[in-house]
Amino acid sequence: MNEIKEIYSAEQILARVAELGAKISLDYQELDCPVIIGVLKGSFCFLADLVQHIKLPNSIQIEFVHLSSYGNAIESTGIIQAPYLNLPNITNRHILIVEDIIDSGRTANFLIEYLQNQFKPASVRVAVLLDKKAHRVVSLEADYIGFSVDDTFIVGYGFDYAEKYRELPYLGELVLSGKKPDKASHEK
Ligand code: IMP
Ligand code: MG
Repeated sequence: MNEIKEIYSAEQILARVAELGAKISLDYQELDCPVIIGVLKGSFCFLADLVQHIKLPNSIQIEFVHLSSYGNAIESTGIIQAPYLNLPNITNRHILIVEDIIDSGRTANFLIEYLQNQFKPASVRVAVLLDKKAHRVVSLEADYIGFSVDDTFIVGYGFDYAEKYRELPYLGELVLSGKKPDKASHEK
């Protein structure tokens, strides 16, 4: 069995997510009904908790896309797949992308460019739970960052390894048993 070493408890995550929500509420106070775009699958826990702490006079709109940059690897293939990329007309709106993690930066960069081209938004910002700078390929800095992590593989709270462990309420480092990472199936 693989071992998972907790790095952030459920309580620590929720406290940090509440702080991010408060900061976003402050920054977007004057902006009319921003569009929050969650990037599935990895962001589902983060987004669900975050939006409960975003308090704005004229509410928010929540949309989802499903992007995947990993075919069958623990390391990114660099090719972005978009199993679901079907947004309503959000031309000229203020957009906040909610991502699980920025690793190489390719996924977030792909979505930012797509949104700019399709919708000419009034603004695009990125909120990310984890920032992993070790493998950055695209120069990209998120506007809201939960935690910075080292070059380790994280599971739990929406993060998967081969589609497993997303349900864990904490964030943990995955220690594969005995063998090297088998480059097994892994997507957002
Ligand atoms: P990117 O390399 O910034 O495009 O990130 C690609 C995707 O890889 C992320 O959205 C995650 O779904 C996934 N990913 C990167 N690092 C990890 C990790 O440590 N655990 C789980 N998924 C990860
Ligand atoms: Mg993933």
